[in-house]
Amino acid sequence: MSSGYFGPFGGRFVAETLVPALEELERAYETIVPSAEFQAELRKRLSEYVGRPTPLTPAERLRAIYDPSGDRLARLLLKREDLCHTGAHKINNALGQMLLAKRMGKQRIIAETGAGQHGVATATACAVLGLPCEVYMGELDVARQAPNVARMRMLGAKVIPVSSGSRTLKDAMNEAMRDWVTHVGTTYYCVGSAAGPHPYPSLVRDLQRVIGDEIRAVLPSPDAVVACIGGGSNAIGAFAAFIPDSKVRLFGVEAAGLGVDTDKHAATLGRGRVGVLHGSKSYVLCDDDGQIIEPHSISAGLDYPGVGPEHAELHRSGRATYLSATDDEALAAVKLVARQEGILVALETAHAFAALPRVLDRLSEAGVTRATVVVCVSGRGDKDLSTLLDRFAGELEEGGR
Ligand SMILES: Cc1ncc(COP(=O)(O)O)c(C=O)c1O
Repeated sequence: MSSGYFGPFGGRFVAETLVPALEELERAYETIVPSAEFQAELRKRLSEYVGRPTPLTPAERLRAIYDPSGDRLARLLLKREDLCHTGAHKINNALGQMLLAKRMGKQRIIAETGAGQHGVATATACAVLGLPCEVYMGELDVARQAPNVARMRMLGAKVIPVSSGSRTLKDAMNEAMRDWVTHVGTTYYCVGSAAGPHPYPSLVRDLQRVIGDEIRAVLPSPDAVVACIGGGSNAIGAFAAFIPDSKVRLFGVEAAGLGVDTDKHAATLGRGRVGVLHGSKSYVLCDDDGQIIEPHSISAGLDYPGVGPEHAELHRSGRATYLSATDDEALAAVKLVARQEGILVALETAHAFAALPRVLDRLSEAGVTRATVVVCVSGRGDKDLSTLLDRFAGELEEGGR
């Protein structure tokens, strides 16, 4: 197999029963997705239904906090994927894959979800296209992202709680793959990130690259683009258009949880090693025997011990830089962005903001001054309110800043 690799990463490491289904999907990806008819319908729905293009808005109050003089950071711009229908970038991918599933004649849709945003996006796309939908979700995530569980159920999807392992995204993906192996003839598996076996990392990237294409149409050559990394779909979507332009520095931000020197983090590129997870070769958090180490992050969408293979290659080649931010830094960033810009961002997204001071350090080291930096606001934070209220309870009652 030669296709589906990014340098040494990627591929298709799956049970034999899934190979024909992946080959069928690969053919659909190569023939249906590029067709003028498919692209026209996708573009129409992205514009009329999802609300694209999303704005690229200046964040001047926040910029002034990160760099009062403006010597290091002249312009901070936010790519507002939180303004997409359903509140996150996940809908770009889910809608595209559901249009594809429909054209492939699939009668049953399954998905996995962590933060619930991909589950909500898939349930939404299934509703509008008249497809049945079942979503696997770890029990811990069902509890911490309750509003999204309610949304999925209202949209007509069946949410299946997963009680194995750390009861988070990895375990939901395991169960979804198990289901797919069993019902492979009729079922379409809508993977939610730029991870998994070929062709998913390429398919999801192509469906998310609209984020970076839209940034580039307004701002052809920013100094840096910054995005948080779970499996890596909003980041690869924001990066893709800029990868050939080496003047544009690319920064991905992983979840450092309680700290990368503890065993409670999800910094896969920072602290992981090369291995295989969910059908592709990439960096993973694993022990000496190759067993997966349970990750930790306060944000359900970043709480994953793997990462998409294209990011593994961008990391290996040095084309992109991967930093991390802790739970506490992300919580502080949610509050800062809310108070300075009036935008309640998702805990996932908050990691990208939390790492901005380190991004500016890297830019300075590279001799870039008065930088123009774009942050991808991957989603809105309504789903995280119970976590935020728990953490900030005392302060919020006092109305303090
Ligand atoms: C708002 C938001 N941002 C980011 C992510 C991380 O996913 P990815 O790395 O695929 O963009 C998620 C995942 O659920 C999410 O809900």
